[in-house]
Amino acid sequence: MRTAAIVPAAGRGDRLGPGVPKALRPLGGAPLLVHAVRALAQAPSVELVVVAAPVDDVHTVERLLADFEWGAEVVVVAGGVDRRQSVAHGLAALPADVEIVLVHDAARPLAPSELAEAVAVTVRTRADACIPVVPLVDTVKQVVGDQVVRTLDRSQLRAVQTPQGFRRSVLAKAHAWAATADPAEVATITDDASLVERIGGCVVTIPGAPEAFKVTQPSDLLLGEAFLTRRRA
Ligand code: C5P
Repeated sequence: MRTAAIVPAAGRGDRLGPGVPKALRPLGGAPLLVHAVRALAQAPSVELVVVAAPVDDVHTVERLLADFEWGAEVVVVAGGVDRRQSVAHGLAALPADVEIVLVHDAARPLAPSELAEAVAVTVRTRADACIPVVPLVDTVKQVVGDQVVRTLDRSQLRAVQTPQGFRRSVLAKAHAWAATADPAEVATITDDASLVERIGGCVVTIPGAPEAFKVTQPSDLLLGEAFLTRRRA
């Protein structure tokens, strides 16, 4: 079963501060995107990586990625106005014979290739969709304004990472639903697995990895540098 990965990498990353788009910010001497593509391309199952780049930076990203030897074919497409549309553009670029699709944020540059492979194998062997999750360490409360409404049962909650994996037919159906659904409802959906849940699909979880954390603010880059230093030691 052919497996491809889509990397939505078209976000600005404003919470990181001013500068180039987030996927092109450096971490340990290479852009976040390069780390993310390398991990996916090194996963034994992944034969193709489709990067959805910022519309104005497609050629820059093509040139950047052409400088590396990958273990898989890598192509670049223009991203969309939001993450969902960037993934949809990646989906539209997949060859017809791809049956399993991983979706992985460029903003999670240090997710290990072993995690990508575990997700792909889970989809191939036993699931329509698979997501890596980690337990929550903080207590979580629902708040309206500055008022606590209730405290959620942390033991039942998980934080969700990427890469997320899908049977291509299921992911395509979920994105087709999103393209025609109420935009206000779709705007509240922040990952691909949620789209699959919304159309009644079954999503299974596997243990995530600390290295698959998301780079959102400047302190996350410090954490990334520390992981890289340990990895290179
Ligand atoms: O903004 P956030 O960190 O949630 O973005 C998650 C991922 O979605 C990032 O890798 C970002 O580059 C990507 N994205 C995208 N297209 C957009 C907005 C975000 O590919 N228009």
